[in-house]
Amino acid sequence: MPATLSQFAQSLTVETAFTVLAVAKQLQAAGKDVVELEIGDSPFETTESAKTAGIEAIQSNHTHYCPSPGLPEFRQAAAEFVSSEFGIPATAENIVAGPGAKVFEQFFCEAFLNPGDSVLVFSPYFPTYVPNIHRRGAEVVFAPLRQSHGFRPEAAQIEKFLNEAASPKAIFLNSPHNPTGGVTTEQDLRDIADLVRGRDIAVFSDEPYCHMVWEGAHHSLLAQDGMLSQAVAAYTFSKSYSMSGWRLGFAVASNEVADSLGKMINTSLSCTPPLVQMAGTRALKQDHAQRKEQMGLFREKVLLLTDGLNRIEGFHSLPPLATFYVFPNVAPVCNRLGITSHGLALYLLEGADDSFGVACLGGECFGEAGAGFLRFSCAEPNERLRQALEFLPRAIGREGRLEAFLEQRPGFRLSTEYPVP
Ligand SMILES: Cc1ncc(COP(=O)(O)O)c(C=O)c1O
Repeated sequence: MPATLSQFAQSLTVETAFTVLAVAKQLQAAGKDVVELEIGDSPFETTESAKTAGIEAIQSNHTHYCPSPGLPEFRQAAAEFVSSEFGIPATAENIVAGPGAKVFEQFFCEAFLNPGDSVLVFSPYFPTYVPNIHRRGAEVVFAPLRQSHGFRPEAAQIEKFLNEAASPKAIFLNSPHNPTGGVTTEQDLRDIADLVRGRDIAVFSDEPYCHMVWEGAHHSLLAQDGMLSQAVAAYTFSKSYSMSGWRLGFAVASNEVADSLGKMINTSLSCTPPLVQMAGTRALKQDHAQRKEQMGLFREKVLLLTDGLNRIEGFHSLPPLATFYVFPNVAPVCNRLGITSHGLALYLLEGADDSFGVACLGGECFGEAGAGFLRFSCAEPNERLRQALEFLPRAIGREGRLEAFLEQRPGFRLSTEYPVP
């Protein structure tokens, strides 16, 4: 008899982007031309010095274990980066290296949450927050981010959570925000810090898009007075240095919390590969110009895609502030066609045409508050973005094909109309 999976394993939800990616690859293998705007990866090459440093590290045999919290030179470089760029008062002891930023969601939850604790998550949200909170038996309390408020968290929502949740213990913040592209302003962060300061509340500040702010500058909660002792920030090399496959990121936290995160690494991963940290150290020190150039190219893509999407009837995106995602409200289109937003996304990929498709995600893949929206990433050459933009209105107009798609996938029929902004 097979051993039964745990309740946690049976209920585990995953990042839908990877599921749609698999469908897109399957269709491509069968000969379909697919513009892939579903996954949040960079279309650019890893920056130059990082690549060279990685190769050199292997050739000079940095291929063994290293200290669990990270190489001293990596921790030092990361501390200098967050203090010089974001004003976080960090030293090397405040840095813990990890294989990307995502893993720190789990370690943050293990560091702070007990079963029954309440955790505030703003919705739409990065899909792996919830399973990591559930991993500890804690409860998620959702608060909606509204397009009319620039998808920014509101102080009143945090006050409500602190005053009314059963056992408030932690808050997940993400700015710049995936999937909406919203930016939490410095004043918002000041207000949030004032609300949580001195209370037994831990904040996870997820900041993978810190270099993708298109208006103004990035601000971190950890630069606010006292927040280094109450918050953990997570950064990654996946976006800024196009290193998603290397798996490198780091957390910034107080000395005590950093020690605890180091123990989490020790007891799970042992360490983050030293050769990868050496590549990252070099990127931080030498790839500033290339990073800036790549960010400029991303900005162009976001502007192109936002402008094109806003020309389609029934699509409404905010002016782009940050990230490489565009998150238009498409409620009027879904209501008219009687299809859910993720249904519409899959129709564009699978149903609208036999030889061409566009892969994107329905906003509900990021929580209920995302329903009625689509998320497009910009991870394709500009020419491909233009092809996708040209295809979308034609695809939406093929009502016979849409009906056939819904016949086959009745689960995507819209039962209750989405509110129209
Ligand atoms: C909000 C958010 N957090 C975390 C991550 C994970 O990044 P990493 O590749 O560093 O694990 C991503 C990646 O898309 C993200 O969008």
